[in-house]
Amino acid sequence: MKYQTQKIALAYFFVAIALFAIQVSAGLILGWIYVDPNFLSDLLPFNVARMLHSNALIVWLLTGFMGCAYFLVPEEAEREIHSPKLAYLQLLILVVGTLGAVLTYVTNAFEGNMLLGKQGREFLEQPLWVKIGIVVAALIFLYNLTMTILAGRKTAISNILLLGLWGLALCFLFAFYNPGNLALDKQYWWFVVHLWVEGTWELIMAAILAFLMLKLTGVDREIVEKWLYIIVATALFSGILGTGHHYYWIGTPGYWQWIGSIFSSLEVVPFFGMMAFAFVMVWKGRRDHANKAALLWSLGCATLAFFGAGVWGFMHTLHPVNYYTHGTQITAAHGHLAFFGAYVSLNLAMFSYALPLLKGRDPYNQVLNMASFWLMSGGMVFMTFTLTFAGAVQTHLQRVMGMNYMEVQDQLWVFYAMRFCSGVAVVLGALLYIYAVLVPRREVISQASHADAVPAE
Ligand code: HEM
Ligand code: HEM
Ligand SMILES: [Fe+2]
Repeated sequence: MKYQTQKIALAYFFVAIALFAIQVSAGLILGWIYVDPNFLSDLLPFNVARMLHSNALIVWLLTGFMGCAYFLVPEEAEREIHSPKLAYLQLLILVVGTLGAVLTYVTNAFEGNMLLGKQGREFLEQPLWVKIGIVVAALIFLYNLTMTILAGRKTAISNILLLGLWGLALCFLFAFYNPGNLALDKQYWWFVVHLWVEGTWELIMAAILAFLMLKLTGVDREIVEKWLYIIVATALFSGILGTGHHYYWIGTPGYWQWIGSIFSSLEVVPFFGMMAFAFVMVWKGRRDHANKAALLWSLGCATLAFFGAGVWGFMHTLHPVNYYTHGTQITAAHGHLAFFGAYVSLNLAMFSYALPLLKGRDPYNQVLNMASFWLMSGGMVFMTFTLTFAGAVQTHLQRVMGMNYMEVQDQLWVFYAMRFCSGVAVVLGALLYIYAVLVPRREVISQASHADAVPAE
């Protein structure tokens, strides 16, 4: 760690990791409810557990990104963070908001209250006061980072990171507009959800991945920057109009079927670009960095993002296909692998890289960390396959044969049981990861290894 204020990242990473554990545990409960539908139906109904699962995901990913930014910007700008106090205040606001949202979901307090009650839009259920808190925290964050970067060295990595973060915050403002007309509601809802994961977050991903590649492979900055510009240009060119792939069946004009199909197909390009970038950098790289776990997560991130977002996204993005698959388990298969590959793995890569530096130690527990990569990613890939099969059967029975929804669900039981098993692997992998990055390895040098070290005559 070169700069004192990079320590701020540590607090953000701890909060993110705690929420990550809650997120995957809630997933396991959901997965079990699919197998045994009355499980916890009084204590923690499916819809509430689902809110916890998806909201915890978004909040921990955002907290993680913020931590990554506080770690990365001092090194790129060659400056300490403008105000560490503001950075901690920002985290406090986010934690209070998160606890407030969780309590509201679980107890359903203030139901129907405009300011205090939950709002029924997937991912954007947070009560209004929490949303306002999020905006205040985001403003503090952007002010703090922008001041740091303006005062210091300006690099392509920090500029693109900042552009992504500003875009993320601006898109969130659409969460405050909730028109009564359901078609309009959906139209603006996607401005947040789609323009986040297939626009602004992609810039953040490209910037963080570029930083990791720079550090881990030692390739020249100019080469990294060239790739970065191409990735960002293709991401924005395809992603913005790609929003159209959500406008096929919500009451918007028919031309969206063509705009959405064409531009969202092009969204595969930046994800392919990021995968090619990561592998070419490793191949060209001159440095053999000691942190193998961070490198594995970085390559895994780029690869799984290409499959989850690019391949699984393309699978159902053309409107004649989406006509049949819309809202089936195919969507859930894609949602899981895309989020996991692109944004979960990205955060875990950065935590793996930064935590040893922040704690002033050599990379530790690397073998466990790498084992957790294979367990978690393997579990996630298996889950994606089970859901894809479930979705194919569902699409056929429900959308082609016209069977009714619940009848079809009965046929899918075996897939849901397998999904639950893969979920267990993911949760075990997550626990292993948390142990590997947070609990340092004790140096145990046994007598035997000393004896072995004596050169034989
Ligand atoms: C880090 C890993 C995970 C990520 C990134 C993730 C992401 C998501 C996302 C984005 C959704 C909303 C999907 C949609 O709207 O299509 C979701 C729902 C869900 N997740 Fe996960 N999840 C993860 C882990 C798990 C685990 C371990 C399980 C356990 C089996 C699980 C089970 C579920 C279930 C059952 C739903 C509800 C699907 C529905 O409403 O039909 N997830 N998850
Ligand atoms: C990392 C980037 C991405 C993430 C995290 C992501 C995540 C998601 C999630 C969670 C949903 C379900 C939303 C809901 O209905 O509640 C979804 C829907 C969808 N995504 Fe993605 N996605 C990504 C990239 C892509 C790409 C690149 C494509 C196209 C090539 C794509 C195509 C689609 C389509 C067509 C739907 C609508 C599915 C339906 O009609 O039910 N996605 N995505
Ligand atoms: Fe989308």
